[in-house]
Amino acid sequence: MSLPERVKLVEVSPRDGLQNEADFVDTAIKVELINRLANAGFSNIESASFVSPKWVPQMADGNAVMQGISRLPNTIYSALTPNLRGYDDAIASGVNEVVIFAAASEAFSQRNINCSIAESMSRFESVAKAAQRDGLRLRGSISCALGCPYQGQVPESAVLDVVKRMQDLGVVEFDIADTIGVGTAGQVASLMSAVARVVPIAQVAGHFHDTYGQALANIYASLQVGVTIYHASVAGLGGCPYAKGATGNVATEDVLYLLNGLGIHTGVDFNAVVETGQWVSQQLGKKSVSRAGNAIAAKAST
Ligand code: HMG
Ligand code: MG
Repeated sequence: MSLPERVKLVEVSPRDGLQNEADFVDTAIKVELINRLANAGFSNIESASFVSPKWVPQMADGNAVMQGISRLPNTIYSALTPNLRGYDDAIASGVNEVVIFAAASEAFSQRNINCSIAESMSRFESVAKAAQRDGLRLRGSISCALGCPYQGQVPESAVLDVVKRMQDLGVVEFDIADTIGVGTAGQVASLMSAVARVVPIAQVAGHFHDTYGQALANIYASLQVGVTIYHASVAGLGGCPYAKGATGNVATEDVLYLLNGLGIHTGVDFNAVVETGQWVSQQLGKKSVSRAGNAIAAKAST
C-alpha cells in the first residue's frame, strides 16, 4: 500500500506530556504551550484532563488552563474525561472533544482508573450519552494495546474487544496506545490491520510512547497499513504516572521530520514546533529528548 498523502497530528504534550511532571507546572506555562501549538498549526491539542486531582495533581488546573488560552476557531481542544463528573467539568470549561480512556489489560485498568475494564465501560456509557446529547466529538483511548507493565503480553483480541465496546458507545476515533513503548513494527502493523477490520482505518490513531526507541518505526509501520492519525508530544515530554519507567510520547519534532521527509502533509510548521520544544524544555528545566529538535537547535546556535 502506498503511504498516505496527509496525516493528522494530535499534540498531546499539554496533557500526556505534562501529567507526569513531578513539580507543578504553572498554569501560565500550560496556557502558553497550548497557544504556541495552536499557532504552529495543530488541529487537535489534548489540552487538559478532568480526572481526580488526588490521582493526578498536575492536571488539577484544567479549567483555568481552558479559560486562559486564546482559542483558534478551527482547533479542537480535547480533554480526558474518566466519568460524568469529569465530563461536566470539561464541557463547562469549553473543550470541544472528550476522551474516554480504557485499557486492554485488566491489571492496568485497576491501577489507572481503579476499576475493571467492564466497569469502566459502564462508567463511560453516561459520558457517551452526554456527549451525544451535547453534540461533542467522542474519542476513545485504549492503553496497553501492545503490552502491559503489570501483565506483560496483551492479546490482540483484548484490544479489539475494547475497540468494539467503544464503537458501540459512539466513539469516532480510536487511539491505539503503546503506553510503555514496548511494541515493535511487525506487531504494530498486525494490530493496526486487525483494528482496521473492525472500524474504518480513517478512525484509527497511533499513540506511541518511545520507551524502547521504537516509536518512529512503529509510526512508519502504521503508515504502511494506512493509519493517518498520530499522537506526539513536543520535546518528547511525558509518561504515565501508572506505568512506572515509561517515558514520554514520541517527540513531535521527530515525527514531523520523518513525515516531511516522506512528503506527507501535516499543516504544521516544523520550525515553530522546534522552537516550542526548546522553549518548554527550558521552562521545565530539562533537556528536550527530541533528536531532530536538538539537532536543529544546535545548528542554529553555531
Ligand atoms: P476512584 O477513587 O475510584 O473514584 O477514582 P471515586 O468516584 O471514588 O472518586 C474519588 C475521589 O475523586 C472523590 O473525591 C471524587 O469526588 C473525586 P473525595 O470524595 O475523595 O474528595 N473525583 C473527581 N474529581 C475531579 N474530577 C473527576 C473526579 N472523579 C472523581 N473527574 C478515577 C476513579 C477515575 C476518578 C481516578 O482513578 C482517576 O482520576 N484516575 C485518573 C488516572 C489518570 O489520569 N491517568 C493518566 C491518564 S491515562 C494515560 O496517560 C494513558 C493515555 O495516555 C494512553 C496511553 O498512553 O496508554 C491516555
Ligand atoms: Mg499516553
